[in-house]
Amino acid sequence: MHDTFYLLLFTQSYAKGFRMSESCQKVYITTPIYYVNDVPHIGHAYTTIIADTLARYSRMVGYDVFFLTGTDEHGQKIEQAAKARGKSPQEYADEISARFRKLWDEFEISYDKFIRTTDPDHMKGVQKAFEVMYANGDIYKDLYRGNYCVSCETFFTETQLVDDEFCPECGRSTTVVEEESYFFRLSKYQDKLLEWYENQPDCILPKSKRNEVINFVKNGLDDLSITRTSFDWGVKLPESVHDPKHVMYVWLDALMNYVTALGYGTDEAKMDYWPAKIHLIGKDILRFHAIYWPAFLMSLGLPLPQHIGAHGWWTRNGEKMSKSKGNVVDPKEIADAYGLENFRYFMLREVPFGQDGDFSQRALIDRINSDLGNDLGNLLNRIIGMSHKYFEGRIESGGITRYHGEELTHVEAVLAQVEPFLYEVQTNRYLEELWKVLRIANKAIDTAMPWSKMKEGKEEEAMATIALVANILARVAVLLHPFMPKTTQTIAKALGFTIDTGAYERLIRQKALLEPFVVEKIPPLFPRIEAPLVATPDTTAETKEEKKPEPKAKAEGEAAKKEEGANLITIDQFFQVQLKVGTVVEAEEVPKSKKLLKLQVDLGEERPRQIVAGIKQWYGARELVGTQVCVVANLKPAKLMGMLSEGMLLAAKDDEGLCLIRPEKPRKPGSAIG
Ligand code: MSP
Repeated sequence: MHDTFYLLLFTQSYAKGFRMSESCQKVYITTPIYYVNDVPHIGHAYTTIIADTLARYSRMVGYDVFFLTGTDEHGQKIEQAAKARGKSPQEYADEISARFRKLWDEFEISYDKFIRTTDPDHMKGVQKAFEVMYANGDIYKDLYRGNYCVSCETFFTETQLVDDEFCPECGRSTTVVEEESYFFRLSKYQDKLLEWYENQPDCILPKSKRNEVINFVKNGLDDLSITRTSFDWGVKLPESVHDPKHVMYVWLDALMNYVTALGYGTDEAKMDYWPAKIHLIGKDILRFHAIYWPAFLMSLGLPLPQHIGAHGWWTRNGEKMSKSKGNVVDPKEIADAYGLENFRYFMLREVPFGQDGDFSQRALIDRINSDLGNDLGNLLNRIIGMSHKYFEGRIESGGITRYHGEELTHVEAVLAQVEPFLYEVQTNRYLEELWKVLRIANKAIDTAMPWSKMKEGKEEEAMATIALVANILARVAVLLHPFMPKTTQTIAKALGFTIDTGAYERLIRQKALLEPFVVEKIPPLFPRIEAPLVATPDTTAETKEEKKPEPKAKAEGEAAKKEEGANLITIDQFFQVQLKVGTVVEAEEVPKSKKLLKLQVDLGEERPRQIVAGIKQWYGARELVGTQVCVVANLKPAKLMGMLSEGMLLAAKDDEGLCLIRPEKPRKPGSAIG
């Protein structure tokens, strides 16, 4: 019965869309809650910035917005990471959660609530959900046997494993776990899920991802193990179930955050924000959000979210960024160097939603110099310059319709179509449209040549062109505001207004023209950047530069020099190799191998790395334990004699043999070498 109800409710809210007449409509936007086993990196910043932009836009147009972010703090992975650092899981979670929160505050992320899965109200809400599902027969107890990857917190079937043992997602060893478990009847929801994907074609964005999910579900859904007994750090089952040795599976715990944040299971005060307008996530967690989550919601009798938007990954040289690979870009460092808002613009403009994007400082610099500096900043400077030269800074919109009516109509037509791009998370397309309008403005100046009109005594015409551009800039500033909140206020201020819901209403909805005003002289907003500002590995930037065609003579002259320097690498290339100090915590001989030793080396990470090294001729296993070594930490894992090796030791070899390179004094495991 309630299934029909939620579909009905859902379809109705969807069909209504978002019109201004329903200005108090509630809009709920979420980010994933971030695991506290990793410090924030550019991938996390990306999801959060997209969500922030949608939230800011929704507020600007007058909706009642609730924007949620937070941290995911339970599970074996966190328990282990804490243990490796000699901390309690709670202490460790407090520390890393605070780092996420601090970064979002520094990034002026406009979240309304920061939830932690260790919050007592959240935990009560999860228990309540368990009780509801249990009471309606969707949960039962059985025995679970499976191959579990601790790092991914996921079970895999035997056919999914690589070489019968390794996790298909992260390459680490899996362990066979057999335990008593409570199961959620996911299989029961297979048809209802398929119905949802069918009836709600844009429930998964980008739409191309929907088919992947549909195929997965059509292949059959197994019931889902939703409790664990092998560790403690999690939400206990509700007391009414009388089974204290179980804790909830992290994904049940984590997904529930989207409703416990609104009070589900406690005071329910904000439940009227539900269902979510959009859950923003990365593509790696689509399955959890597009299959498990709606099934849980159906079981709870709650309506389903309107959209689940799955973005692609930020990569470095084609590899997903992650702490374990040691190739992360620190978003704070980039934002500090290039400007937070320039960085926001870049992230949302550079990569089509859903696709992967390789991060490079060169691409960022190009966007700043070209899109922001040339197209936007210079346009503003041009009208500031002309209006002060010819009209003491005055700008009056009166003549626009007469002299530039066609351009104005074109601009309004383009701008009237942009909003859907934003709610479909095609931020790059949205921004492209704004830039289309900026090009109309630049072209209007080049064609009308106000300076010639002034010479010919046609002041009214010159003023009309300047005013057209001012009005275009005002509209672009408003629509760009959610992406670049402060920069656009500076532009608006120069143009004599403030961006708020009223300005949106007047300039965008009512298409009003600016009242007469005196334009303010302001310094250039986007000073040109010539070279990368951050000394992080960024060879993509170098590569792009090298690929630019050079004049023939110059190219020939440079060729000889290049020959000479063929063996030289840049500092950026050197820093691409991550060298770290490690402590050997275990070592053993590899049976049947003359050369290999298998070591476990502590690099200050949540667990030691397994490194298989060809040093048996020179070192005994036992003498290595407790000593320090230098490790290449970002090598792609490789298999040696069927064993995974996750790094390489530095050593020097001459006629007398091989010796390991070690730090002169003991250093903390994981200390960077460079
Ligand atoms: N805790 C879960 C989410 C639970 S939501 C109910 C989780 N956390 S995470 O910290 O590992 O990842 C959070 C988000 O960051 C994911 O959406 C993930 O896709 C995103 N990113 C992590 N690395 C990324 C990149 N390199 N690039 C872009 N985003 C990626 O998963």
